[in-house]
Amino acid sequence: MENILLEMKGITKSFPGVHALDNFSFNLRSGEVHALVGENGAGKSTLMKILYGVYTPDEGEILMEGKRVTIKNPSEALKLGIGEVFQELNVCLQLDVTNNIFIGNLKTKHHLVDDNALREETRKILRDTVGMDVEPTALVRTLSIAQRQMIEIAKVVSRGGKIVVFDEPTTSLTKEETNHLINIIKKLKKQGMGIIYITHRLEELTILADRVTVMRDGKYIRTMDYADTTNEELVNLMVGREMTEKYPVYQRKIGEEILHVKGIRDKGNINIGEIVVRKGEIVGMAGLVGAGRTESMRILIGADKGEVDEIVLFGKKISRLQNVHKSIESGIVYMTEDRKADGLALPLNIEKNISIASLKRFSKRGIVNAKKADENAWEYVKNLKIKISGLEQEAKLLSGGNQQKVILAKWMSCNPKILIFDEPTKGIDVGAKYEIYKLINELSDAGMGIILISSDLPEVIGMSDRVYVYREGRTVAELDQTEIEASNIMQYATGIKKQGKG
Ligand SMILES: Nc1ncnc2c1ncn2[C@@H]1O[C@H](COP(=O)(O)OP(=O)(O)OP(=O)(O)O)[C@@H](O)[C@H]1O
Ligand SMILES: [Mg+2]
Repeated sequence: MENILLEMKGITKSFPGVHALDNFSFNLRSGEVHALVGENGAGKSTLMKILYGVYTPDEGEILMEGKRVTIKNPSEALKLGIGEVFQELNVCLQLDVTNNIFIGNLKTKHHLVDDNALREETRKILRDTVGMDVEPTALVRTLSIAQRQMIEIAKVVSRGGKIVVFDEPTTSLTKEETNHLINIIKKLKKQGMGIIYITHRLEELTILADRVTVMRDGKYIRTMDYADTTNEELVNLMVGREMTEKYPVYQRKIGEEILHVKGIRDKGNINIGEIVVRKGEIVGMAGLVGAGRTESMRILIGADKGEVDEIVLFGKKISRLQNVHKSIESGIVYMTEDRKADGLALPLNIEKNISIASLKRFSKRGIVNAKKADENAWEYVKNLKIKISGLEQEAKLLSGGNQQKVILAKWMSCNPKILIFDEPTKGIDVGAKYEIYKLINELSDAGMGIILISSDLPEVIGMSDRVYVYREGRTVAELDQTEIEASNIMQYATGIKKQGKG
């Protein structure tokens, strides 16, 4: 077929104990967005790392515009016109913007011109390619994730790039940043570039995708024109079975009040009203990014400075939680949205990562019962369907979504009384989401109280018994079961509707 930019044929790649890719083939046309979808651990990122020269395939070949190429490292990939925007961005954080754009590409003429000229060119490149204004001398580590992504895109485009790969680019972006990125992708497409787009947010495909390829367990399943398929069909192909229910049907038994916080404040704009959680209840926290949900919970658990008016836990007034450790001891556990900062100990194995916060449960007089810790870890691996080759495997070798599941297992292992989930299904595929929801339901069944912070509105609606809506650091509404509904939540979150609270 004409205008085929890239072909990957019969790609096979094994890691010790894992068959990551098995005879996988697909192609990319110029001027298209080709989406790549599949469950956590399906092999999407591995395939893209092969294209970028990070890994060498065991078998298979790569053709660029019909010519066979070998790509030994990322700088060769860039020379061939291939750029990648990973979630774990490969920008050099300690360099400034200019050096990132020109890294490995400083032509002789640039050595002759002064730094100022180089900076001016950087400014121009950023403006022309991605419509962004940043100081060329700014250190990349001071920039937001969205800005770093833009620098990556500008780098590829300014070198006459032909292909850009996006691997879950929107997971940490705000709505506005996401829209900007989508516009840039549309522009690249118009210029005839080929785009490979990986996401677990299938609704993004509606706006972007021309074709979509489904992979499962490292194998090629099917390629379709996006117009000829539906997200339901894609999900069924991804998980290899019919998925009809997105949220498990569950009869919840809600009991007495177990947590009552009178108010949470800080010196900034956080001034959250009452928070009540009952036994077995799932309380949703809705709001736009920046509404203060994460901030207030961090103050509550003692991770950040601020004031908390009276905490009553199981009918007993307890003193202000001074730090995260105290908070875990009291039975309140917070699972952060920030996967990296949450301290998944990357070099440690999976068993240790799961047990690390709950060692007390498995110890007697300071001695850890390894067998018990092991059994606990296996139980979560099984329940959450974490794809691993063994408990001894290092956490850093897991796919992104599977790392997230290990973090979930770690916090659930603490046997908390109150569990605060902050964006628990970020980067998790649809099938696994269902498993996580089931587990959250089981936790509620066991009498735990659950707070669910989520920007995924259907998730908040599908799971919560009651919802607090926050806006600009304040409680603007408390909705009971009958009032939990998308447009209702959005109207409070954006300030169109008011309940006269907070
Ligand atoms: N360097 C490595 N060493 C060992 N195993 C690896 C390595 N890189 C990836 N794997 C394994 O290969 C499989 C595919 O992982 P990959 O990261 O490609 O999945 P993915 O489709 O991107 O998943 P996700 O949606 O969770 O990001 C997983 O089982 C993963 O644990
Ligand atoms: Mg991945």
